[in-house]
Amino acid sequence: MPRDIRRIAILTGGGDCPGLNAVIRAVAKDAMFHGMEVLGIEDGFLGLIEDRVRPLRVEDVSGILTVGGTILGSSNKANPQKFAVGRNPDGSVIWKDVTDVCVKHLQERGVDVLIAIGGDGTMACAEPMIRMGVPCVGVPKTIDNDLWGTELTFGFQTAVQIASDAIDRVQTTAASHHRAMVVEVMGRNAGWIGLYAGLASASDVILLPEQPFDLEKVCEVVRRRGSRGSRFTVICCAEGAYPRDGERVVERVDPTSPDPIRLGGISRWLSAEIEKRTGIESRYVVLGHVQRGGSPVSQDRVLATLFGDHAMELLKEGRLNRLVAWQNGRLTDVDMRESAGRQRLVTPDNPVVEAARSVGTSFGD
Ligand code: F6P
Repeated sequence: MPRDIRRIAILTGGGDCPGLNAVIRAVAKDAMFHGMEVLGIEDGFLGLIEDRVRPLRVEDVSGILTVGGTILGSSNKANPQKFAVGRNPDGSVIWKDVTDVCVKHLQERGVDVLIAIGGDGTMACAEPMIRMGVPCVGVPKTIDNDLWGTELTFGFQTAVQIASDAIDRVQTTAASHHRAMVVEVMGRNAGWIGLYAGLASASDVILLPEQPFDLEKVCEVVRRRGSRGSRFTVICCAEGAYPRDGERVVERVDPTSPDPIRLGGISRWLSAEIEKRTGIESRYVVLGHVQRGGSPVSQDRVLATLFGDHAMELLKEGRLNRLVAWQNGRLTDVDMRESAGRQRLVTPDNPVVEAARSVGTSFGD
């Protein structure tokens, strides 16, 4: 182990997801066993900007493997490069680059390495700090599973389980009432949750952000299924899905966030269109943050622990500014800076897309 690593700090950035505590536990326990001091930064980069940092003890990180959320808190608004510090008289937001403040706070606290657990936004926030001389190790998290450089992020498998359990329940009521049911799952730009939950729940239609859908093709499936068997249709629809001649449905805009768009509402629109065009009764469900909450499934507990362990291996070997990754069925790592702000999307030739198509699933195309 490099002798000069005495104190590390951990932060969790971006939207939370099941398994964050499992990583914190794995990193902190290993570091403590090796005599390092561990600091926890509260609420992601917001806490670093505001210098809200606390020492973690072994009691703080015990008993948290199965606990959802993050004991450190998180923020998906605070980007040090573009931080909202007030409003102009005309109401527009005043932005400031406060990266130097973050670096100063880390240096004042004698932090040797920052462990940043987050998605593409968190890695993009860490990148300028690396350039300013802060050694980092990145751990990929997001239920969306869309971080470039890794084929799997922890939290994803839990979200898929929650979504497919919910769709299973929707299916029985859809069958009883011979309805079309649209279930909206998370996934802004990447449809991984929709694809996996849709396949796992035998949804009849899967709609993804990567492939604009043809509304008439979706209605054709509903009409066809409405005239045979149990006469119901289940549509698994990512929040970022949109019709060929339309746009994504925005639920809210937060001007103080550097990434201000929050999507939501496509299922409501689609369900109304289906009912109007086919005459078949339709309902919609938005699963929302239920997919991000609660205890991680066992695969995510294991993956998160493996990721935390690999992060510590990198740190102990002095291989810094690396992002832990999962590729070809094994742990590895990539350059953190390459992954910053980049997303991994579903492609039409993905084997899961092909398998879904071969069992008759429509992608609305
Ligand atoms: O990136 C994770 C994610 O859950 C997306 O799937 C979703 O669009 C977004 O975060 C929701 O963000 P918020 O928690 O700010 O509503």
